[in-house]
Amino acid sequence: MTDKPRFAEASMEAMYRIFTVPEAPDSTLGKIDQKLSQNLAGFLSEHIVAVEKDLKELEQDFQESRIPETPIFVSDQADFLMEKLVAQSVHTASPSFIGHMTSALPYFMLPLSRIMMALNQNLVKIETSKAFTPMERQVLGMIHRLIFERDDAFYQKWMHEPGHSLGSFCSGGTIANITALWVARNQKLGATENFRGIQREGLFGALKHYGYNGAAVLVSERGHYSLGKAADVLGIGRDFLVSIKTDNRNKARIPELRDKIKQLQDDNIAIIGMVGVCGTSETGSVDRLDEMADIAQEIGCHFHVDAAWGGPTLFSKKYRHILNGIERADSVTIDAHKQMYVPMGAGMVVFRDPTLVSAIEHHADYIIRKGSKDLGSYTLEGSRPGMAMLLQSGLKIISRSGYEILIDQGIEKARLFADMIKADPAFELITEPELNILTYRYLPDFVRTKLATASAAETDQIVDAMNRLTKKIQKTERARGKSFVSRTTLMPEEYDRRRTVVFRVVLANPLTNHQILKDVLEEQKQIAASADCAELMAELRALCEPPALKVKAG
Ligand SMILES: Cc1ncc(COP(=O)(O)O)c(C=O)c1O
Repeated sequence: MTDKPRFAEASMEAMYRIFTVPEAPDSTLGKIDQKLSQNLAGFLSEHIVAVEKDLKELEQDFQESRIPETPIFVSDQADFLMEKLVAQSVHTASPSFIGHMTSALPYFMLPLSRIMMALNQNLVKIETSKAFTPMERQVLGMIHRLIFERDDAFYQKWMHEPGHSLGSFCSGGTIANITALWVARNQKLGATENFRGIQREGLFGALKHYGYNGAAVLVSERGHYSLGKAADVLGIGRDFLVSIKTDNRNKARIPELRDKIKQLQDDNIAIIGMVGVCGTSETGSVDRLDEMADIAQEIGCHFHVDAAWGGPTLFSKKYRHILNGIERADSVTIDAHKQMYVPMGAGMVVFRDPTLVSAIEHHADYIIRKGSKDLGSYTLEGSRPGMAMLLQSGLKIISRSGYEILIDQGIEKARLFADMIKADPAFELITEPELNILTYRYLPDFVRTKLATASAAETDQIVDAMNRLTKKIQKTERARGKSFVSRTTLMPEEYDRRRTVVFRVVLANPLTNHQILKDVLEEQKQIAASADCAELMAELRALCEPPALKVKAG
């Protein structure tokens, strides 16, 4: 970047120019494009996760709050972005970045995504999307079929049916979950002869009309926080997102679910819906969906499955049985930007019954007219990009069998990593992977020995110090930038539900191999033995080992 700022000119002619397709193949923009592609490829092929730079320092490059008065050249902005933004981004594509659900993308997504950007279609209505709308309807049909397996005739009838939709394509799992519960709420508190429905008269009017004291949604304590937001924006209230304790496999306890339902019924609270989690964010666990479907059927409430993470397990013939019961859900959230390897901004909710979306149908005279095929009639969001194009591309280029390979290898790698952790006396596996997420922590042998016989008070102190040690190791590993695991807090049964900080690993990048996993454990052991952790290790020793006998002098 040049030191002296260069300025372009803000004129009508310049404005025309920026909206005109560059003609010459060797135009300045073409050259910038090439340079960016090379630089990006360089960035993506690096295997360092991101050496931690002080955020305060980074903020210095983003201090200016005044909108520039004078334009700058694209090339200068491109240089700025490469230097200040790209170079300081997180290498989510690195195979040693195994801490979050955001991971590598197949490379074909990059050139294909240009189509989406260039055409800038708006899926809210056919008038701004044309072929993109039937394509999105097809994608929703494919995902619906993956889950509910209806026959050809069903999809022939419903996929492109005006006035209906098999689901909503949206920006992610959060909006998908809100949309599902929005449908559930409007169904439960729908119009009657002398009531125009909650969507017209509001929650207060609905509760008054139906004679309820409140409304609630049930989900396990491992449910994603987006459900809390849903309860909030839908007027149910976060306190009425009723939390069901999980068992030692992080699945909702069915007897407690029944108790809570009974309590809500006794208190005259409307049960809007029950949510089964398929792939909890922290541990990747799957609820007993079949049993939950039975209960939902018994009490006649909407059964939603949050399969934002775990849904694509359905691609695997070997492991899809883990999700048994999902096909009985009324609605299912599934994120394409997670295990379908589509860039971020691609979530879906699909409904078993295509008439269900009528509960949230909305129209406007100038767009999304009644009886049209506009998908904007069934979405919470307004303007939406053609992300479905990238999912359709993934589904065709990778195909079911390709996704099956990705899913299978992730689950099997998680099992292998769990075995490596169990075989290493320096670590403790906290949650066995059911899908491809697991949690564990570093556990020095003297702590393990002491915990076997420690009193409750001693255990409290040790768990507290261990939590700080786990945090310290995780932060140090992140700062070093070679590899990355995330951390969360669980309440494991074996520690009498004490709050326990653990490392969390998500194995979604197919390039993560055995050696990388081995290196992660090695690095964590080194960090624990380093000066960074010396103070905490000394504290733990003092808690766990009896004080040395003092020998009397003389
Ligand atoms: C189980 C589950 N549901 C919902 C979400 C929310 O998805 P998004 O971040 O795409 O809004 C997540 C995100 O991690 C998730 O793990």
